[in-house]
Amino acid sequence: MLIRFGVVGCGAIHGTHCDAIGKIAGATLAGVYDVVPERSGAAGEKFGVKAHRSFGSLLNAVDAVCVCVPSGLHAQLALKAVRAGKHVVVEKPVDVKVAPATKLVRAARDAGVKLTVISQHRFAADIRRVRDAVQSGELGRPLIGDSFTKWYRTQAYYDSGAWRGTWKLDGGSLMNQSVHYIDMIQWIMGGVAAVRAIMRTAAHDIEAEDVAYALVEYRNGAIGVIHGATVAYPGFAERLEVSGTYGSMIVEGDRLKFCELDPNAPSDPSPYGKGVQKQPTPKVTSQDDGPPVLGGANDPTAIWGEQHRLQIEDFVRAIHDDRDPFITGEDALEPLKVLEAIYRSGRNGGKKVTIAS
Ligand SMILES: NC(=O)c1ccc[n+]([C@@H]2O[C@H](COP(=O)([O-])OP(=O)(O)OC[C@H]3O[C@@H](n4cnc5c(N)ncnc54)[C@H](O)[C@@H]3O)[C@@H](O)[C@H]2O)c1
Repeated sequence: MLIRFGVVGCGAIHGTHCDAIGKIAGATLAGVYDVVPERSGAAGEKFGVKAHRSFGSLLNAVDAVCVCVPSGLHAQLALKAVRAGKHVVVEKPVDVKVAPATKLVRAARDAGVKLTVISQHRFAADIRRVRDAVQSGELGRPLIGDSFTKWYRTQAYYDSGAWRGTWKLDGGSLMNQSVHYIDMIQWIMGGVAAVRAIMRTAAHDIEAEDVAYALVEYRNGAIGVIHGATVAYPGFAERLEVSGTYGSMIVEGDRLKFCELDPNAPSDPSPYGKGVQKQPTPKVTSQDDGPPVLGGANDPTAIWGEQHRLQIEDFVRAIHDDRDPFITGEDALEPLKVLEAIYRSGRNGGKKVTIAS
């Protein structure tokens, strides 16, 4: 069965979705809609599909929809699609508030439709490698999990859309830009238990934060830092730094830049995790087979088209095979809970905020 996709929201990211759908066997782009008719028209013309005049009209013509509107509208529009019996791909973050996002996730389960939320970096091989190392016990007992997204955005970027940098529809550097690597670190470590945060609106005329730090306690006992900024000219590749009792791994721009495991570490089953036998590993296995993927560090339009394709392809297969997609709605709630906790702590003088499991 060919899955007919619609795309709602024809701004910066929609082309990545349209291109990806066009490359996936078993899927076809069937229509687009934007509240600004000229944008729907231009997208319809570019991709050779019908530009719908309303969201309802688009929903009637498709089996699945990609929600590419401002973040604070995600749950609202996705819920409409779910209630119309459509499968839904939601751009990140699932929403800017946990409550409507949770409602959406439950509604999708109740309706028996598939829901995924874009978190394309989970499809990067080196990030999965680090997650496997932590989750299998290969790195030993987890000690440190740090995530840095030191990016740069101009004021013109924020001025390019009335929703950008607002609390209601966007959030700041953490919710919009750092959400990617916040999801990576919480996924790698297996969840966040508590945060203490400090945040500022330091260099842009926006409501939300443009620089923030959070001290993090992970559920696995490790501690670390989550950092996110759009004030760090000229913008640096995002980094993950993870250490356990057996060694450390560092990812920069989705590439494993450093991996060293202690050759004297016991080869017994790990004292942490699933008791997996530690694999014999050479002393230094630093992988430096190319530059880090600079991605969106200083250019919001430099996005990872291939990773989007992989995620939407997995989603199409999930529909065909009637299984969960690789990233479920429930998975997408986790980074949002972390973000909401960081914001609450930041607004309350860095008070510790715990996250219910
Ligand atoms: N995964 C990634 O790497 C990535 C990259 C960029 C953006 N995004 C996400 O994609 C979403 C959109 O971002 P963008 O940069 O494309 O924004 P944008 O402002 O360029 O585009 C948003 C579009 O949505 C339209 N829109 C607004 N309200 C609508 C409604 N009710 N119905 C239909 N259309 C409506 C606007 O007219 C606009 O054309 C955001 O949630 C953002 O976080 C993800």
